[in-house]
Amino acid sequence: MKNRIRNKSLRDKVISADEAASIIKSGMTIGCSGFTPSGYPKAVPLALAEKNKDKEFKINILTGASVGSELDGALAKAGFIKKRYPYQSDKILRDSINRGDISYSDIHLSHFPQNVRYGHYGNIDLAIIEAIAITEEGWIIPSSSVGLSPTFVKEADKIIVELNLNQPLELEGIHDIYQLSDPPNREPIPLKKADQRIGNPYIKVDPEKIEAIVVTELEDEISFSAYQDEISNKIASHIIKLLESEQQAGNIPEELLPLQSGVGAVANAVLSGLCSSNFKDIKFYSEVIQDAVLELIDCGKIDIASGTSITLSESGKKQFQENIDLYKEKIILRPQEISNNPEIIRRLGSIAINTAIEADIFGNINSTHIMGKRMVNGIGGSGDFARNAYLSIFVTGSVAKGGQISSIVPMVSHIDHTEHDVDIIVTEQGLADLRGLSPQERAVEIINKTASPDYKNKLLNYFERAQKEGGHTPVILSEALSWHQKFIDTGSMK
Ligand code: COA
Repeated sequence: MKNRIRNKSLRDKVISADEAASIIKSGMTIGCSGFTPSGYPKAVPLALAEKNKDKEFKINILTGASVGSELDGALAKAGFIKKRYPYQSDKILRDSINRGDISYSDIHLSHFPQNVRYGHYGNIDLAIIEAIAITEEGWIIPSSSVGLSPTFVKEADKIIVELNLNQPLELEGIHDIYQLSDPPNREPIPLKKADQRIGNPYIKVDPEKIEAIVVTELEDEISFSAYQDEISNKIASHIIKLLESEQQAGNIPEELLPLQSGVGAVANAVLSGLCSSNFKDIKFYSEVIQDAVLELIDCGKIDIASGTSITLSESGKKQFQENIDLYKEKIILRPQEISNNPEIIRRLGSIAINTAIEADIFGNINSTHIMGKRMVNGIGGSGDFARNAYLSIFVTGSVAKGGQISSIVPMVSHIDHTEHDVDIIVTEQGLADLRGLSPQERAVEIINKTASPDYKNKLLNYFERAQKEGGHTPVILSEALSWHQKFIDTGSMK
């Protein structure tokens, strides 16, 4: 334990998860570490959900992004969450949000830390932070994610540290904690290259604020397996061809521009595909470091992978832990305010690849709401990257629900990314390059290149009739959302 809690006086603060749970009072706003199911507190929320039977007990939960079911699922199931920000992906929590039982607001992940500092979500009464160790000075060394922890540590009245013995101590040194001042005192962020370190490998804190330390060995949940199928592989091959032609045109260098990719099957397929490409010394400047990034490091293609969390499958985790010293040289974990920072994304000229639920014929993207109203996860970091990247790519299968839904529609039922933030749309059918095109040209390109053959003629027919009514962006308002209504009424858009 001495090498995990190096500050002697803090060793007296070790208590059980049950005892720590009793520090949490109804009405509190709590900032938790974690970004995806990585580096989030598990023991204290589980103890709270188990121990507390007060039906009136309500707290507000803030995190970096989504977290595992031990936090979101357990507390939502217990009925303890009143408000939740800024991103989630837990089924129980999502259902409570869509029933209206929990008040949820999804927020651009780069904006959230500043909003917290400005007090837009109230006072942060408590921070619960997973750590691998506490330094002699009493500073916190985070675990497999950084997310919003530095901001919560700074803003919270008191802190509970969940010291996780299952998180390897070798992670020490992987973090780069740099914190922004707020306007009017903000300085330019001194990060010019993806591989640069600009901060400290720990989160500085007044040790007096650490109220309790809970020692745990609970592992992060493995929440998704990035299963690559025929569709994701086809989408990936369209993207790789685009990157090759961008390089041949002299728009991007041999080492590409720094890549951002969302999590999931398509992202993994694109990254895996890069292993057999001619690109080399690739830089990855993104949020989440997933299995395919390790693959790219292994095949010698990646120079540096900068993110805010490491989120791996069971086998990826084993691979990481067995070769941690090798991977540590190539990976940097930063606060999400830096990993997702628009100033840096614009400076680096990122290539951003994110997933859409649906896209419309003009290039507007819905990434969050099914049929306009049912929240899936949230906008996450997609907007941070899409608006500021050199190249903003959105991917989706051309159909959903066994072909009964066209993912290319006359008008999206909810907008997260406007047409102005979208350069490229890719489905398994093909790739629409929207750069330099007017709305009318975009519609033709999107329908012809990306729509499923089952819906192409229907879309062309709609667009031709819309054009006859005139306008810069031709639309038949009474019909534009009728495809969604038809699906709701009949179970099919056909
Ligand atoms: N219309 C209606 N429903 C649709 C649909 C469409 N056009 N396309 C997909 N769906 C449904 C799927 O059927 C599935 O529903 P189910 O769970 O009931 O089966 C659900 O939406 C999710 O679809 P899936 O294909 O499993 O999505 P995914 O895992 O690839 O995730 C997003 C896609 C958009 C939900 C996800 O990428 C996301 O949350 N993005 C926003 C945040 C983000 O981009 N973060 C990354 C920044 S680093």
